[in-house]
Amino acid sequence: MPNIQNNNTWLQKAYTEFSMALVNNANLKSYAEPLIQPFFPLWSASDYRAQVKQVRSENSSCYTLVLKPTKTWPGFQPGQYIELHVIKNGVKVSRCFSISSAPEQFTKMGTIELTIRAQDNGRITPWLQQALTETSTVGLSAAQGNFIIKDRSRPILMIAGGSGITPFRSYLHSQALIKPTQTASLLYYARNQGGHLFEQELNSICDNNKYLTTHLMNTAKTGHFSLDKLQQQLPNYQDYDIYICGPNSMIKDVNNVLLDAKVDEKNIFIERFGPAPVDFSQLDKAGTVNFNQSNKSAELGSNTNLLDLAENIGLQPEHGCRMGICHKCSCRKKSGVVYNTLTNNYSDTGQEDIQLCVSVPVGEVVIEL
Ligand code: FES
Repeated sequence: MPNIQNNNTWLQKAYTEFSMALVNNANLKSYAEPLIQPFFPLWSASDYRAQVKQVRSENSSCYTLVLKPTKTWPGFQPGQYIELHVIKNGVKVSRCFSISSAPEQFTKMGTIELTIRAQDNGRITPWLQQALTETSTVGLSAAQGNFIIKDRSRPILMIAGGSGITPFRSYLHSQALIKPTQTASLLYYARNQGGHLFEQELNSICDNNKYLTTHLMNTAKTGHFSLDKLQQQLPNYQDYDIYICGPNSMIKDVNNVLLDAKVDEKNIFIERFGPAPVDFSQLDKAGTVNFNQSNKSAELGSNTNLLDLAENIGLQPEHGCRMGICHKCSCRKKSGVVYNTLTNNYSDTGQEDIQLCVSVPVGEVVIEL
């Protein structure tokens, strides 16, 4: 069973009721945040901490952080992600990462693993690999996300691209331990030979279990995902629950192929790394974004969302996932039009709450920040 704690113990209920009665907030500790955070910036009433146990290089662009969360951290299920909080140059920054290890590793050893691609020109992911050591402490949210890869009555097909293998590694390790007779198949795409993360490990898990199959695909040699290849590898693919994780372009292509092949949408599960792509050439990029509370403004013209735009001019809006899930970056738009890259909709011109990380300004926009 997944290691999710039952939060409904009588003690927790009593605490919540007492706290609500006293300060109308479910968590008394949140009132201490403004007092404690100036001295301990990673401290948060709603989050946890973890000690870095290892920083392990996987290849030239990816590395794994092995973390030991504090005992109260509630655990996770394969496919979920966490927000990692660190302090860089005195500023708290957060990024979301899928957990690449199995829940059973956490139960047994108390550790979890995050496998991270150092983004080209990224501000945080390349820096983390250098900055974190075995004595570092980081902040950690509870596990989040609905991309939970469950044992089901139907077989499971996992389609991964690049570092999108991380949630599937978690599942495969877990499944090998707790439900070895679940039929599951992995199609893992990388750009070239040797580009597959955990290649030996994945082959070894599947070699030892007749219910698991792995196809490591080298797109330079075999091309991208196509229905023809899928039919050759898995003729009964229509019987599978299909999970897809990887770069946005790959997700879009795979999803389109599956929908064209009349795979039922309810049997397709998707996890994106980053907000959905947007065709900036279609947008009116002339104009200025005004952040009225901080009295700062930024000229449009670069292909960026409002969160990046604000950070580029030195603002520090609250944020978490940076892909439209957590709503931590929600902000009041006072006027102007924004384009939502998740819903593919334009906003009205008036006041409304928007998510900075998935909103692209269109013309003149005023944001309450
Ligand atoms: S940062 Fe999570 S929704 Fe924007």
